[in-house]
Amino acid sequence: MTGFTTANDGADVWAASSTGIVVLVGALSALVSVLIAVVVLQRQRLQRAGSKERDAQYSPQIAWDKGTTSALAEALGTHVPPGSIAAPSPGPSITLVGAGVGNPDHLTLGALRELQTADLVVADQLLPPTILALAGGRLVVANKTKGRAHEAQEEIYDACLAGLRAGQRVVRLKGGDPFVFGRGAEEVLRFRQHGYEARVLPGISSCIAGPGLAGIPLTLRGVADSFVVTTAHGKNDTDPRWPEFQPYRTFVFLMGVSQLPRLHNILTQTRYGFPSRLPMAIVERASHPKQRVLRTTLDQVADLAARQHVTSPAVLILGEVTTCLQSAPN
Ligand SMILES: C[S@@+](CC[C@H](N)C(=O)[O-])C[C@H]1O[C@@H](n2cnc3c(N)ncnc32)[C@H](O)[C@@H]1O
Repeated sequence: MTGFTTANDGADVWAASSTGIVVLVGALSALVSVLIAVVVLQRQRLQRAGSKERDAQYSPQIAWDKGTTSALAEALGTHVPPGSIAAPSPGPSITLVGAGVGNPDHLTLGALRELQTADLVVADQLLPPTILALAGGRLVVANKTKGRAHEAQEEIYDACLAGLRAGQRVVRLKGGDPFVFGRGAEEVLRFRQHGYEARVLPGISSCIAGPGLAGIPLTLRGVADSFVVTTAHGKNDTDPRWPEFQPYRTFVFLMGVSQLPRLHNILTQTRYGFPSRLPMAIVERASHPKQRVLRTTLDQVADLAARQHVTSPAVLILGEVTTCLQSAPN
């Protein structure tokens, strides 16, 4: 029967070819496993190289203004006694007290007690009379008009140090939280330089109060896992280091009103990567009777701010959270 295969021959061929396929599949899967292992190892090697490079590039830097605060930079290296942020002992003391964003309802009980028992309260200019009126002792308000911020800051130090030298209990009253864009650290170092260890009593920062009072949650599962707070105004009128966009993140900008006309152009540049249509909100004068909340998108914000004459102080919030608690249209 030459030229024909029998049924048995067919089975043999089938068996032979299926064995071949099994061997081939085995070889292929071994190859794929090897390739995956190579890719994983390569990626780990690159990650290690990348993190080594980052480590090599990283050096802790604190950009103090060398002209005015070089001595403070030295003080940075000094030992901070444990428990320095503790209740004041009898004798002269200085406490940096966070006053919140203006409404006395947002003062902490600790802040109220400090205000009422201080011999001297040296306050930031923008704090409202309703809070300043709570000062029990002598009150000094900084004259921080435009163009004399440096002089005003020196006058604040002089007033506080005069009180301390006279043995007084001094409160340095600051807007929001002393350590959030409030020069609190600089003040701690300056007083330390003069032999006084300042205590810090945190306050409710505008980066928290602004969104909260506008009904905007900073985080929300599935919408924002993190938030970033950035100044929109660098030192000496320079630009700050702008953050890069990340989905599932909320961005809060303080000191941003003067940047509103250029914010869209800046943030949508490739290296920052913000989407043009990202929802955003402006919370102006948070907690004040004239508080305003404006909602828009990044590409529309300059027009809206100009039309509505937005003024400082205001908090800018960018991200999907700005719309999520808005009431549904009827
Ligand atoms: C120099 S920073 C001081 C921040 C302050 N230490 C804090 O924790 O809120 C000033 C900026 O805080 C924000 N700010 C302070 N009070 C505010 C308020 N009542 N409403 C909206 N923004 C406010 C504005 O962005 C303003 O430009």
